[in-house]
Amino acid sequence: MNKERLWNRLHELSQYGKDPIAGHTRFSFTKEERMAKDLTAKYMLEAGLEVREDAIGNLIGRREGTMSGAPAVLIGSHLDSVPQGGMFDGPLGVLAGIEVLQSMNEREIVTDHPIEVIAFTDEEGSRFQFGLIGSKAVAGVLTEEDLQRSDQNGITLGQAMKESGFDPLRFKEAARDPKTVKGYVEVHIEQGKVLETNNLPIGVVSGIAGPLWLNWKIKGEAGHAGATPMQLRKDPLVAAAEIMQDIEEQSKKYKNAVATVGKISVKPAGVNVIPGEVEFTLDLRDIDEAVRDTIEKTIVTNANKICSKRKVELEVTTLQRVAPVPCSPEIRQVIEHACSQSGVKAYTLPSGAGHDGMQFKDFCPIGMIFVQSKDGISHNPAEWSTKEDCAKGAEVLYHTVLGLANSK
Ligand code: GLV
Ligand code: MN
Ligand code: MN
Repeated sequence: MNKERLWNRLHELSQYGKDPIAGHTRFSFTKEERMAKDLTAKYMLEAGLEVREDAIGNLIGRREGTMSGAPAVLIGSHLDSVPQGGMFDGPLGVLAGIEVLQSMNEREIVTDHPIEVIAFTDEEGSRFQFGLIGSKAVAGVLTEEDLQRSDQNGITLGQAMKESGFDPLRFKEAARDPKTVKGYVEVHIEQGKVLETNNLPIGVVSGIAGPLWLNWKIKGEAGHAGATPMQLRKDPLVAAAEIMQDIEEQSKKYKNAVATVGKISVKPAGVNVIPGEVEFTLDLRDIDEAVRDTIEKTIVTNANKICSKRKVELEVTTLQRVAPVPCSPEIRQVIEHACSQSGVKAYTLPSGAGHDGMQFKDFCPIGMIFVQSKDGISHNPAEWSTKEDCAKGAEVLYHTVLGLANSK
């Protein structure tokens, strides 16, 4: 394992998609993402891998095994980012995967099973308001309707693919037969404070909380801010404020539930104009799907009451609904053994953040290795993990992959 090489690549890759204000903005099917993929493809070639891109743009580097027809062990993560995100969320998993395979080649290690490192297309969902696009395609659950989803400029996923040289009509070719895949393992930064609090470099993930994304549109009546008495208004923004307060209140009733309104738009948006229409998004998660769905039901019922009281119209639409996914007990065991081989404690924790493995619930067993995050900060330019901890994550991945790629 060459920790300097991994660290240098993380920094080199972070030069692409630097946001003019702060951090990194690298959305799918943009030139920033293309440059990041090209550089990563170069690393894959340097690692001695066979490189290809599939029909949805997943970048794949493959290392053959010795057992003919054996299912592949998949490892990887993503290269796209949220707006003004950090440099580790995604790239660490892809580059650690490449580092593992390059080290295996340098040590002339052979494995029974083939191993593939994948940089999945659009994990974050920042561009088309739904994510996990590449992993959805691999699992065979991406749909024609998904291709019609558009970005904030009205460009659909299908159009964006076309502009980037992909044929949207062929997206189904990215789907893989589950029989050809043994399992999926991802290294990712924790994005929380649990490991740091416990002074541990590495975590073994027990399962991933499932995000539900809803879009809330409230229509009221635009009007003159000076001439319309308070009791005659149909103001959708104050209704939205009341709904947001209720969302917070309901979610706080459950230990693991988290709810975030991260995007809001007000129309027509004038200082002296009562808003006519408001839209906001909600990201609601819990490791327990039933709890998440109970909160959803309560907040929608309450919101309808709030809106009818305020005489405004409410329309709630689902942007994405992903089920929470447990990690495979067998893969967890392999990771725990890999931790002991790497001289680190195997500390188990759940993932509140979403990851591509969530799309593999009915496709293949998954496992995840977490690397300590500084101050738990992520989706923020200040996101940070140390060189030593990143290298430890790669080392644990190395032993994990060897364990998986050699067991029958
Ligand atoms: C991805 O980072 C997500 O959890 O939204
Ligand atoms: Mn992220
Ligand atoms: Mn990520």
